[in-house]
Amino acid sequence: MKKIAVLTSGGDAPGMNAAVRAVVRSGIAAGMEVYGVRRGYEGLLDNDLVQMDLRSVSNILERGGTFLSSARSKRFNTKEGVQQAAENCRKLGIEGLVVIGGDGSFKGARDLCAEGICCIGIPGTIDNDISCTDYTIGYDTALNTTIEILDKVRDTMQSHNRCCICEVMGRHRGDLALNAGLAVGACAILVPEEEYDIDRDIVEPMKRSLALGKKHFVIVVAENMLDVNALSKEVEAKTGVETRTCVPGHVQRGGSPSARDRILASEMGHYAVQLLIQGKTCRVVGIKENRLLDYDITEALAIPKTFNYELLKIAREISI
Ligand code: F6P
Repeated sequence: MKKIAVLTSGGDAPGMNAAVRAVVRSGIAAGMEVYGVRRGYEGLLDNDLVQMDLRSVSNILERGGTFLSSARSKRFNTKEGVQQAAENCRKLGIEGLVVIGGDGSFKGARDLCAEGICCIGIPGTIDNDISCTDYTIGYDTALNTTIEILDKVRDTMQSHNRCCICEVMGRHRGDLALNAGLAVGACAILVPEEEYDIDRDIVEPMKRSLALGKKHFVIVVAENMLDVNALSKEVEAKTGVETRTCVPGHVQRGGSPSARDRILASEMGHYAVQLLIQGKTCRVVGIKENRLLDYDITEALAIPKTFNYELLKIAREISI
């Protein structure tokens, strides 16, 4: 394989730059020409590619976001779009493509493989919602960012004896909410993996803690579950504790990647290029029990998602 390209797709995640850097430098080390595609699949459709050299990826390791830019491409999400993108790759002589993104991006990679373009996926999303890997690039940084925000919220709740309902990102997955909630001692944590009951899961634990002398509360709710403003009014009415809301939103997706994300991204980027060198296609890279491995993309997309219910139980027991 002589010519490969790399793109970042979907929601950006801290560490994507480190992954691009690893792909570019590992590809060049193997004697390949490496191209960066701007704006994800949109750039592939518009032939928006630029040849990378070793210095093109200097000084990006520590930067959040993705210097290649990203997009959620509607045009690519059609049969014609995929065929057009594959045709563009063929015309440019691009034989292999590394796609850094989430499961939506991997579906695109799978479809491109069916059109004859060798694709390797690298999981990059703050949601940690890709089943074939214990960690996705960006999750660790987002978790630490969220904890930093919630710690600050907690300071001011403590000063005023208040409660704050905090909405945490994660799309339809509760990993960020659970782990952030545990790490800041949230009195209640609601996640999409579990049915909730406001009285049972929030009001009663708060009343129990109030009776035990606790005066301030942080409640963590994963996004897309309920209206946090309405919940705040209900909690205030039922507990008598003055309640506020906090929705950090996209702040959770920015910032310099953590050590863990930089290292994971560098390892995965290098691994993806080795797969292309070996002539592999339609694979996604993952890390399980600290070991890098790869799966067929279609099989990876079908793996059921697991959730750490045990950790949720622990969080509930000790955040009293
Ligand atoms: O997938 C990453 C993520 O930040 C989710 O947590 C969130 O639901 C979504 O993207 C937000 O998407 P957008 O940036 O397109 O509003």
